Formats: sequence, structure tokens, C-alpha cells
Amino acid sequence: MATDVLHSAKKARNDEFYTQYVDIQKEVNAYVEYNPNIFKDKTILLPCDDPEWSNFTKFFAQNFQSFGLKKLISTSYAYNSKNLDYEWQPTLFETSDPRFEIDKSKSKGKIFTLTADENKDGKINIDDLQWKYLEGDGDFRSQEIKKLCEEADIIITNPPFSLFREFILWLFENNKKFLILGNLNAVKYSEVYPFIESKRLWLGVSITSGDRLFGIPDELYDPKKVGARDVVIEGKHYISVVGVRWFTNLEHGRLHEKRTLMTEADNIKFSKHKEIKGIGYQKYDNYDAIEVPYVDAIPSDYEGIMGVPISFMDKYNPNQFEIVGLSMRAGFGLKSNKFYDEYKEIQQNGKLTGSSGKKTNGNPMLKGKPNKGNYYINENGECAYSLYDRFFIKLIKD
Ligand SMILES: C[S@@+](CC[C@H](N)C(=O)[O-])C[C@H]1O[C@@H](n2cnc3c(N)ncnc32)[C@H](O)[C@@H]1O
Repeated sequence: MATDVLHSAKKARNDEFYTQYVDIQKEVNAYVEYNPNIFKDKTILLPCDDPEWSNFTKFFAQNFQSFGLKKLISTSYAYNSKNLDYEWQPTLFETSDPRFEIDKSKSKGKIFTLTADENKDGKINIDDLQWKYLEGDGDFRSQEIKKLCEEADIIITNPPFSLFREFILWLFENNKKFLILGNLNAVKYSEVYPFIESKRLWLGVSITSGDRLFGIPDELYDPKKVGARDVVIEGKHYISVVGVRWFTNLEHGRLHEKRTLMTEADNIKFSKHKEIKGIGYQKYDNYDAIEVPYVDAIPSDYEGIMGVPISFMDKYNPNQFEIVGLSMRAGFGLKSNKFYDEYKEIQQNGKLTGSSGKKTNGNPMLKGKPNKGNYYINENGECAYSLYDRFFIKLIKD
């Protein structure tokens, strides 16, 4: 029980990372560049965003007029529902406001709306935000937030990491345009992948590698738990997170950029990758496809199915490529045609690990022994080793 409580407090803590203004600005501006009217007369809902913390609210309030927005709605999640292990205090913003109610402050979410120049200073910005307590705690799954979702044209946020799957399904159930942050690994979730295959979801523009810093509220900063990913800049605490990506169904320019590719023969002659140059492409042992370990090594004239790393999604143009499957145990699209139940896992030094080859079923496998890492061997001495997950793709003919 005590471990459960600790675990859920840790999970809740991980849900409290705050996106930097500059990361929001870079991404959103790319959509405006592609379509200057993208937000014109639109209602945007930011469903996990208290403007005291959230730069999403600040960014869209600041750009309300230049984007031509009709309405900005931002909702926050109640402290009591967050399951955090720190002693909460209402902020001065709240206590100094005549609308402050002590009993609601902890248990209710808040709604902030922006539609007009309320303070009559000649501009519409963050100073014109109106707020009140919600009826409930602001959970995006509640009827109250669902209604706001129905009112909105576009949903934008960095949702709680632990609820990413539910959040994506919620967006599709409500049939909304959206732009949200998540982790690249989410492309492999069974809840997410089908939307990618059917071209209803793709990655954003501005983050394709490396890590990003997310703000940690001072209340949640624990000097006893500082790790390698913690960063302090001008006294503020951040955590560096790798693999972050934007997920969206909004059109952007990169989506239409055609990758320049070499033919299979030219790749074999000129590829900068030693695995390809002078060698060519290997067939998987268990999928009817060839292994293409780098996106820039996709042969322009190969008509069959190719397996590529999931980082392919950063370069994906849906008019150039068709995604036909994902190498997973459950199997999406292309099915594995060989299973390794009769194989045994073995280390480089020849010692068996005691695990059966069952555990590699569904992974993309190549025949032979790898240069490093464990592999699998059967009674006849036949070997095979597994690669990271692959998307299976085909080129769309011009
Ligand atoms: C990763 S943080 C990001 C906050 C903000 N969107 C940003 O990017 O700066 C996720 C936020 O969602 C809130 N949250 C957690 N569970 C929620 C739920 N079920 N419904 C709505 N918000 C939730 C968390 O309290 C946290 O403030």
C-alpha cells in the first residue's frame, strides 16, 4: 500500500512538467507560417492549463489579436485531484481576487476565458482573462470539460504524461483538430498507431531530436531527489526530457516536403552507411520486408515493403510513403511469418540466459549473430537477432 501511494505520487509529479514558452512559440508559428488563417475566428481550448503556470495560456493570450482568435478557453485541474505529496497554498493571484473561495480553491478546477478587451486598454491580452471555479475538478474526462471541447475548434496542450493514451482517444472521440506534446514512443501504442496508419495523426515540426527542458514548480522541487536530468537556470528548476514530440492533425509544411532518395543500386554503390555500401539490404527472418536501418537509405525504386526505425515519423510525408504496419507482438498490419518458441536466448560468450525465444516473437529479426548483445539459437545452430521496433512502409508511386 505504502509503495502504491509513493508510486502514484511519483506519477503525479511526472505529470507536472511545464512546457517552455519558446517551445510552444516555435511549433505554433510553423502552422501559422503554413496557413496564416489557421486560428482565424477559432475557439482554442487548453484543457490542462492554469495560466499561473502554463505558457500555453500566456502564448495564446499574447497572440490573441494577431492570430484573429474568437475565444481562448483554458482550464486547470484541482489540487485535491492531483495526488501530489506537497502542502498546497493558494497563490496571491487567487487570494487577492474577490472571487476567491477557500473551500473551492482546493477541490475545484478553474476556467479562464478570453474573448474581448475587458479592461478597455485598447488590446486583448492576458490581462483580459476572466476566471471562475468550475463545477468539478477540471478532469478532461468530465462532462463539464467535454462540453468545452465540443465548443472548441482546436485543442492544444501538453497533457499529463500518464494519461497520454486516454487523452489521444478523447481527442478522436470528440473529432477535434489538435496539437499536443507527447513522447515519440507513443507512436507504438496500440491506441495511437492506428491513427498514424490511417493518416489521421502525424508528428509536428519543431522537435525532431535531442531533449527539451520542462519547468518544475518550486513546490515540487526536491533537493534530495536531484538527478542527472535536473537543470537549474537563473534559479528556476527544469527537467530535461528526451524523445519529446508534438502530435497533431494540423497541416504543416514539412509534411509536404518530398525526401530525395537514391535508387537501390546507387545506395549500394554510394551509401554513407557501412551496413549498406557494397552489401545491400537484408531481408528480415520473420517479415516479408527488407531492413532499411536509416531513413536516408530508403531506396527510391524498391516496390516492396521496407522496415524503418520509428524516427522515420520525423521525416514522414503521407503523399510519398504509405505506412503499412508496425513490428509488434500484437502485430499491426504486416504479420510476422516466423516464431522463435523453439529458439533459446544466448549471450555473446556462448552462455544461455535461460529465456526462450518466445520473448522475441514479433520483433523484427535478422538471420545470423550480431556483433554485440544477446541473440537466439535453435537446435540446428541457426541464429537470429532482434532489432528495435520498425515501421513497415511502402513508397507511393508518382
Ligand atoms: C505535463 S503537465 C503540463 C502542463 C501545461 N499543459 C504545460 O505544458 O505547461 C500536465 C498538466 O495536466 C494536469 N492534469 C493531470 N491529470 C489531469 C486530468 N485528468 N485532467 C486535466 N488535467 C490533468 C496536471 O496537473 C498538469 O498540470
